[in-house]
This record gives sequence, structure tokens and C-alpha cells, in this order.
Amino acid sequence: MKIVAFDPRRHDRGGFDSGHDGLDEYLRRYASQSLRHHLARVYVAEDEPGQVLGYYTLSAASLGHDELPDDLARRLPKYPVPAVLIGRLASDRRARAAGLRIGTRLLVHALQQALRAADTIGVQCVIVDSKPDSVGFYRRFGFLPLRGEGLKLYLPINTIRLLEAEPSASGSSRATRGAQGE
Ligand SMILES: CC(C)(COP(=O)(O)OP(=O)(O)OC[C@H]1O[C@@H](n2cnc3c(N)ncnc32)[C@H](O)[C@@H]1OP(=O)(O)O)[C@@H](O)C(=O)NCCC(=O)NCCS
Repeated sequence: MKIVAFDPRRHDRGGFDSGHDGLDEYLRRYASQSLRHHLARVYVAEDEPGQVLGYYTLSAASLGHDELPDDLARRLPKYPVPAVLIGRLASDRRARAAGLRIGTRLLVHALQQALRAADTIGVQCVIVDSKPDSVGFYRRFGFLPLRGEGLKLYLPINTIRLLEAEPSASGSSRATRGAQGE
């Protein structure tokens, strides 16, 4: 299994089934447009060339200061906060049934990409707009709720860096193991 940049000419997205119509349709109909218009980078988990086991999207984003939880808001100036957005993330149902842990692999890859971006531009955190029944998935990796209804989550870039540099030093063992690629 490897994670590669989505290539609309090569990847077969017709058979992709995450169990979530909106996410399947995005890959089929809108992912190549997003690439063309530079709205998102799309990454695909593939086993055999062209086969899609899962995908995620990554974009630049900005958070309002008023969206931050109190403790973080107190420490930052009252300006918009630069972030990397995981816009969509989904694994194929068959891959889930086979226990391939595609969700974990995609998320770890996304966090590594965010770190790479943070080496060249200011990135305070990674954010995700979760589906209601997937909040638990992100919380396992250390994501925390932003203000609001609880579906928008964030993970500070400092935490991700710590996990990468010194996996055993963190209390967030789940994210640690993920960052190690287990
Ligand atoms: C959420 C999703 C990406 C997880 O992918 P996955 O391939 O099942 O993930 P993994 O197999 O790597 O799971 C890692 C761990 O998270 C747990 N987990 C998976 N989905 C979970 C969920 N929705 N809530 C809580 N925990 C979850 C797994 O049980 C596993 O636990 P373990 O380490 O104790 O074995 C996948 O279920 C999916 O595509 N769902 C539909 C689309 C969606 O909701 N996407 C997220 C919002 S954009």
C-alpha cells in the first residue's frame, strides 16, 4: 500500500465506496476540478496501480480567532490563524472490513504533509470538519474541538512536531503510534 497524489487519468474512482455518498461523489466528480483550480491537493491510498483504497484532501485555511478554545485564544493575537485543512478523508468499506487501517495511514500522511508545509509557511494547526460519526476517529489521534457544535476539530502543529520528534514523550499515545506509521 502506498499513498500517492491523485491522478484523474489513472485512478479508478468509479468503484470507490466509503459508505458516504457525498465523499464518493466528490472523488468521482469534483476531485479533478479541485486540482485544476488549485483548491485542494488530493492524495490516494492505492494497493495496485490505479486502485483507490481511500483518499484525503488538503488545503490552506484560516481560522477566526473567535473559533479558538479559550486557552489557545488567550495565547494568540486577535488575528485569523493560519491552518492546514483536511477537507475530506475516507477509506473504502472493503478496505475497512479487511483491516487495512487506511484511515490511520491517510491521516498520518496528511499530518506529515502539514509539517512539510509548516517548514515554509506559518501553520498554527491542522483542522478537520468531521462527519458526526467520525469525531471519535479524530479524537483518538489527539484532535480537540474548536468552539461551536463540536464537528470542527484541530491539532496544534507543535503537538504534531513533538510526536514526530519524540513519539514516546507524548501523553497522546494513539497519535504517537499513528505518527510512527504503525
Ligand atoms: C472515519 C474513517 C476514515 C476511518 O477509517 P478506517 O480505515 O476505518 O480507520 P482505521 O482502520 O485506521 O482505524 C483506526 C482506529 O480508529 C477506530 N475508528 C475507525 N472509525 C472510527 C469512528 N468513526 N469513530 C471512532 N473510532 C473509529 C478504529 O476502530 C481503529 O481503532 P483501533 O486502533 O483500536 O483498532 C472511515 O470510517 C470512513 O471513511 N468513514 C466514512 C467517511 C468519514 O466519515 N470520513 C471522516 C470525515 S471527512
